[in-house]
Amino acid sequence: MTTTEYIDQHRDRFLDELKTLIRIPSISTASEHNKDTHQCAVQVQEYLVRAGLDKAELYPTEGHPIVYAEKIIGEDKPTILVYGHYDVQPADPLEEWDTPPFEPTIKTTAQHPQGALFARGATDDKGQMFIHVKAVEAMVQTGSLPCNVKFMIEGEEEIGSPNLLPFIKEYREMLHSDVILISDTSLLSKQHPSITVGLRGLTYLDVKVRAARADMHSGLFGGAVANPINVLCDMVASLKDEKKHITIPGFYYDVEFPSERDRKLMREAPFDAEEYMDSPGVFGLEGEEGYTTYERTGILPTLDVNGIWGGFTGEGSKTVIPAVANAKISMRLVSKQNYEKITQLFTEHFKQIAPDTVRVEVHPHHGGNPYVTPTDTPEYKAAEAAIQQTFGETPVPMYEGGSIPIVAQFKEVLGVETILMGFGFDTDGLHSPNEHFGLWNFFKGIETVPAFFSAYAKRKDLTA
Ligand code: BES
Ligand code: MN
Ligand code: MN
Repeated sequence: MTTTEYIDQHRDRFLDELKTLIRIPSISTASEHNKDTHQCAVQVQEYLVRAGLDKAELYPTEGHPIVYAEKIIGEDKPTILVYGHYDVQPADPLEEWDTPPFEPTIKTTAQHPQGALFARGATDDKGQMFIHVKAVEAMVQTGSLPCNVKFMIEGEEEIGSPNLLPFIKEYREMLHSDVILISDTSLLSKQHPSITVGLRGLTYLDVKVRAARADMHSGLFGGAVANPINVLCDMVASLKDEKKHITIPGFYYDVEFPSERDRKLMREAPFDAEEYMDSPGVFGLEGEEGYTTYERTGILPTLDVNGIWGGFTGEGSKTVIPAVANAKISMRLVSKQNYEKITQLFTEHFKQIAPDTVRVEVHPHHGGNPYVTPTDTPEYKAAEAAIQQTFGETPVPMYEGGSIPIVAQFKEVLGVETILMGFGFDTDGLHSPNEHFGLWNFFKGIETVPAFFSAYAKRKDLTA
């Protein structure tokens, strides 16, 4: 039996198994779901065993466990390390979901006329990660696995992978591989496949602006003291100029743009502004002057307030000058920007622009560096050939806006490059209500992964 025949015969079961995985609410950030998150790791392990992997184990961490599995077919064969995550974002606000977030439901949409599975984690990343489990099962069960394969599936990606770096440092040898393969990004469209070649880095921090020990009567003190919320708004507003260029000194120092060829490919990539705006229902687009939307999300850094609070926000009114204001601020980073350096630059600048009527605190959370995949390698050529074969179209190299911070560390610690072969769409509502994953996308992925394995085995032989 060929792998294609095997996949065809087991389609319904593949989908049922994915639904089982999705029903487990493995929300990594919510400690009340720790049992579920652990259960989800066990479920992934079980599916890896059933797929025919020789070794599939849970590695406990200080947080959620890491699932590791491998199938080694020969010392002389190249080794592919598949990375993915079984944890998901919280599902709130629940009332925005048309069907319950952890009860996978198949419905059609304009982008998915053949149906899509609606649920939290459907595309990010359970559905995409499961593509590899099923593709490897198909290869193992039909005796056509051409490479060694290892799986490392973590449960803390959505909270910044705090325990994965120590793990990859400790198990460097076990994780030895020639390439890392990840499906956790997007495709341009069915007709225009793409391979992600750029991921943005990230730094995320809390800021606190304090103007007094306690809240004050806004009549007795208003007009004569600094209002920390007003001050915070002024400070945040000053972080960008009228062209939406970030004003922190030195912020752009390490930003280099991709080659003219790659920028041209991105500019020429079909972009449906309407569709892009429609999925979150935005009223308009904006961004730094002189760049297209793809360039704004792919090759430019950002600075955004994720949340801002302070003062009185209850029902009715209360005349008060608050003592404190808070905000959560994130910056997406590109090219050679280093998140520790940017965190430092932000902190110094933010303290420096504060008026002397307030005290400012800056508390960094997690972060990670940007990553760019080289395209002149056997693995990129193999990915290109695999997609060409199953989509009938050469994929466009795309710089994407999201982050998978551990990828830069794979390169630093393991010395291995990553291929980002995602099968979702940006419009699939990841991190949003009504997240979904197209059935077409799921099965196209399961068909493409074996094509990558065999193209890579051949190309790697040529260069060995
Ligand atoms: N899978 C996403 C990242 C992504 C999605 C990249 C689509 C490119 C295209 C990942 O799960 C994610 O959400 N990452 C977080 C990282 C953060 C929590 C450290 C992000 O980008 O916000
Ligand atoms: Mn993801
Ligand atoms: Mn995510």
